[in-house]
Amino acid sequence: MTSKLWGGRFTKRAESWVDAFGASIDFDKQLVNEDIEGSIAHVKMLGKCGIVSNEEVEKIISGLKVIKEKATEGKLQYNVENEDIHLNIEKFLIDEIGEVGGKLHTGRSRNDQVATDMHLYLRNEVKEILVSIKNLQEAIFEQSKQHVETLIPGYTHLQRAQPVSFAHHLMTYFWMLERDYGRYEDSVKRINISPLGAGALAGTTFPINREYTAELLGFDGIYENSMDAVSDRDFIVEFLSNSSVLMMHLSRLCEELILWSSQEFQFVEIDDAFATGSSIMPQKKNPDMAELIRGKTGRVYGNLFSLLTVLKGLPLAYNKDMQEDKEGMFDTVRTVKGSLQIFAGMIETLKVLGGNMEKATNEDFSNATELADYLASKGMPFRAAHEVVGKLVLYSIQNGKFLLDLSMEEFKEASDLFEEDIYQVLEPKTVVARRNSAGGTGFEQVKEALTKAGDALSKK
Ligand code: ARG
Repeated sequence: MTSKLWGGRFTKRAESWVDAFGASIDFDKQLVNEDIEGSIAHVKMLGKCGIVSNEEVEKIISGLKVIKEKATEGKLQYNVENEDIHLNIEKFLIDEIGEVGGKLHTGRSRNDQVATDMHLYLRNEVKEILVSIKNLQEAIFEQSKQHVETLIPGYTHLQRAQPVSFAHHLMTYFWMLERDYGRYEDSVKRINISPLGAGALAGTTFPINREYTAELLGFDGIYENSMDAVSDRDFIVEFLSNSSVLMMHLSRLCEELILWSSQEFQFVEIDDAFATGSSIMPQKKNPDMAELIRGKTGRVYGNLFSLLTVLKGLPLAYNKDMQEDKEGMFDTVRTVKGSLQIFAGMIETLKVLGGNMEKATNEDFSNATELADYLASKGMPFRAAHEVVGKLVLYSIQNGKFLLDLSMEEFKEASDLFEEDIYQVLEPKTVVARRNSAGGTGFEQVKEALTKAGDALSKK
């Protein structure tokens, strides 16, 4: 017999370094509140079902409350010898209220207990993440509203393609985040299911009431299969996957902010509060936060792949490998919340150098499509028009001109169909305004989309 809570069948203690290797207390202590919440629900249920007496229930609950208070005050001395948060708390409880504390674990296993903790934890964190996504969407929305008529070159292949409204460009990220929001929100259905009462894997001989604990804990239902309940980590994989997609979106915006704030673009200036200097080059202002979020995207992907790999070869039901589900999840929660918070501040304070953006739209060939459309609308087959305009672009490049610099004679030379109104058509503002098809960058469309975005926000 050793001092371990499960020491009965053991004749010898593990060396302390072996204990330390197997222990999860260093990180699962983050689950202290969830663990206590789950235990309180469990013991209430044991009382209600007549499995332990009401007096015992009260003793256990008051003991758990003392432990919770100590945890809040940072007064708990966790011990690696007690392996994880579950056994540590049980040990504290027995120390606090005596032997009766040992009744708490009746009809329960650490396998359904840990799964319950994780479900409770993720449910809370996903709620917070949803709020943070909304905050970032609001920041994007507010910035966009200021820039409906600010023009920026739109790119494909990172080559100037067609000018667009800056609001249209930025709002792209709003809609990405809208989908991220939807994915996290939908995942709550699968997170908010109770594994408690599944026991180690097979259920229990005690006349427990799983619906009751589920109700006490605010779960929407219970796992139908006890083995599934303790083996399932899909809800964490799904969380990591949703987080990976979200981070991928943030990372793309990071990349744009980094490019845009470079000397080469000078389209935006990141606020001093979200930039850093160089220890050697006095002139530097680096977009560190954007770079860091782009970098942190890698660890979130890593966490997803790490858990998928942990799970792929596991036989049913619980295996200790599954203890590896936690650090990546905690790390992802911290990374996602931090990134979203920084991002909202970065977007709110972002200085948009609209003049430089517009200047860029005047100094390129991103209005070339207009010329082709112009000819096509006058009856020339689009393919032929494309060829004519391609030649005109080449001619302009060779003569150091942009399309708006060409004389009427030069236009006529290329095609008889060109008339004086071509100069108006080529103006970047006209180019953008005329793209009024549904979801396009035409100012009317952008305003309409902003109204829809505002509606989406007010529903959250
Ligand atoms: N610390 C363990 C984990 O995180 C708790 C469950 C342990 N169960 C067991 N039978 N060893 O997975």
